[in-house]
Amino acid sequence: MGIHREFRHDIVQAADLLRAGGLVAFPTETVYGLGADAACQRAVSRIFAAKGRPADHPLIVHLGQMADLDLWARDIPAEAWHLATHFWPGPLTLILKRRPDVLDLVTGGQDTIGVRMPDHPLALALLKTFGGAIAAPSANRFGRISPTAAAHVIAELGIAVDYVIDGGPCAVGLESTILDLSGVQPRVLRPGAVTCSMLAEWFDEIPITGDAGGPRAPGRLPSHYAPSTPLRLLESAAIDESVLSTLITGQFVTVLSMRPPKTSVSGYRWETMPTDPQAYARVFYTCLRNADRKDCRCILVELPPATEEWTAVNDRLKRAAANTQQNKLEVV
Ligand code: TXA
Ligand code: MG
Repeated sequence: MGIHREFRHDIVQAADLLRAGGLVAFPTETVYGLGADAACQRAVSRIFAAKGRPADHPLIVHLGQMADLDLWARDIPAEAWHLATHFWPGPLTLILKRRPDVLDLVTGGQDTIGVRMPDHPLALALLKTFGGAIAAPSANRFGRISPTAAAHVIAELGIAVDYVIDGGPCAVGLESTILDLSGVQPRVLRPGAVTCSMLAEWFDEIPITGDAGGPRAPGRLPSHYAPSTPLRLLESAAIDESVLSTLITGQFVTVLSMRPPKTSVSGYRWETMPTDPQAYARVFYTCLRNADRKDCRCILVELPPATEEWTAVNDRLKRAAANTQQNKLEVV
């Protein structure tokens, strides 16, 4: 693998830290991960402490090669191998039956395990140099916005991380699709860049969505990936009026819309978002992070289309808006 010389030192040092039970934040194509040696109880427990994450929420195990699936999962269905061959490295996490020797802390005590091979040269180089598997949730505090740049990780976790590999902005920008293959029917637990129709080709039936009492997954809580500032979803036509009614109170407001503003007043920030879903996803968390400032009364977001290619963005928007109680927003 061709790793730029300036990163070789990073990778070697980060791999050494992983071996010593350290926490290493690293870039993936989706979001930055907070990694620890997946086979080391002490190291994995540090992830939970750093994130403020409840111990019963499982982590994704990142693999450097497909053959390692056998080390972590058992009774692997043929579809899992087919999907891994086709989509890995890439933004697809598979939930499979776990091997009995996998740490309970990694799986949240469940009988299943989430695994994926990330599509990022630095993540793959780290996995290869380290030689083991890396348990890594997104490198943010529990429930908050996932980091898509190294600076986000430092802002979120600070000295709780031993090393941050800066690989620049993430190319996908939203967390991986999670596909549960441990039950009778394939089930998408979290939508991502790999869509349901892309997966459907590999099955006789279209995978079902939602968890229906399935295992715990924080990314599936109604409020997750959430800014502290209230966030409201609006149709395009309703935005300008909402901006004005907030401005009348002298408070700051941020808008994420796919069109330019009609209102020609100052005192607010209007972020014109990409109209292409992949480009939108790439900048979305950075825009949310920038909007999430103390003096901002609320974030108004134009509802993207309800088409399949927008499913992952719409899912994250819904969760980001779930914290917002209408009664806290007297004005808008
Ligand atoms: O794109 C991604 O998946 C990023 C990068 C770093 O790989 N990782 C990520 O991890 O988003 P995290 O922990 O923030 O979200 C992983 C989700 C959680 O909702 C977790 O509960 C779920 O995957 N998960 C992990 N193992 C599971 C299992 N055995 N059964 C059900 N859900 C599981
Ligand atoms: Mg997360």
